[in-house]
Amino acid sequence: AYRPPPPRQSAEASSSSTPLFLPLPPLFQPLPPPPPYHSPTLISTYSHSPDRSIVHDDTSMAYYRPAPMGCDLKYGFERRIERDEEVEEHLDGLCEALQTVGEGRGERKGGVITWRGMITRIMTAPFEDRDGWEMTAIALDGSVYLEEHDPPESKANRRKQQSSWALPTYMGYAFESFSTVSRDGEEAESEVEGWGGDVNTNVQWCNVVRSAIGEIPLCLGGEVDCVRAEIGSPHPGLERTVELKTNKVIENERQDAVFHKKLLKHWAQSWLLGVPEIQVGFRDDAGIVKSQKGFETESIPRLIASLPHPPWSTPPTLHFLHAVLSLLLTHVLPTDPLLTHPQNPSSDLPPATVWRLRFVPRKGCELYKVGEVG
Ligand code: A3P
Ligand code: MG
Ligand code: MG
Repeated sequence: AYRPPPPRQSAEASSSSTPLFLPLPPLFQPLPPPPPYHSPTLISTYSHSPDRSIVHDDTSMAYYRPAPMGCDLKYGFERRIERDEEVEEHLDGLCEALQTVGEGRGERKGGVITWRGMITRIMTAPFEDRDGWEMTAIALDGSVYLEEHDPPESKANRRKQQSSWALPTYMGYAFESFSTVSRDGEEAESEVEGWGGDVNTNVQWCNVVRSAIGEIPLCLGGEVDCVRAEIGSPHPGLERTVELKTNKVIENERQDAVFHKKLLKHWAQSWLLGVPEIQVGFRDDAGIVKSQKGFETESIPRLIASLPHPPWSTPPTLHFLHAVLSLLLTHVLPTDPLLTHPQNPSSDLPPATVWRLRFVPRKGCELYKVGEVG
């Protein structure tokens, strides 16, 4: 039976730069039942406006309305407004939301506070054989804060690829526009049927949830695409939220296999926040929507298990998530500056230890200290 092995440490374990190493669990062997992921509860929502500023309400919530068949996802490309990715927002929006929720109602001491996207990456890592990633972890006031670490090389690489990805990426957002009606309910004036308004990727609607994996408390923030509710009505609850995705039309077995592999990320992303429904628009190379299909988030793992050669299953993802978060709680939490330097009124907050979590595809995760901030 799989038990996460104790992290490996070499002889100079006390040296601050020696990584702890956590290998991946076996992927295609029977595993003991994984720690359960507790169904998330909503604790707060907020909205990014067209200028990226934050309002603590549901202004940017949108209502689902199926995209017209045959709509052109290239529409409006020249008018798009894109969020400035050079601005690193860290966990700012999430922390601000937790402050509005008030003392102790958002986060649980002894847990992890992060974006849903970070937990998606950790969960899906066992089946990720191409893209590595790095994150930064810091303990503060009894919780571990986890955020993306974007090394300059990977930033530069992304910038290089950006122009070739601009149109396919835009099509994902155009599908969102064709599939939704915005809060004010007024259909954007346009010569094209179903268009919900020009794309501005500054605009986002975020939901903050509390959950847990096994005994480890989690507080997660993430974008929700839309809700199934009457236009103009208030937040109908997580049970009625919908994730939107685009995919190329599937014409052969290879494309079918690629789609089933991608469903791991779609499932994890939606499952973590409690989004029960995923609507996929299938488009051709020219960006024309040819078909649409809805998936019940909860039943995706069963769909995958029913395939002749399932490309993934959930037990390794949950075991690995639990093992990585346990590693963080064991090593990062004790470096909480409020624990190690009990505050006295004459001093400011002491420096916090900065840790790096680094994923190497097909191998596992490393955790090591990189310095202090204060
Ligand atoms: P698709 O997923 O339909 O391609 P999300 O689906 O998470 O709501 O994101 C909306 C769109 O943003 C995506 O639509 C895609 O176009 C773009 N996007 C999201 N994450 C991305 C990533 N890691 N790299 C490139 N584009 C991304
Ligand atoms: Mg989205
Ligand atoms: Mg989406």
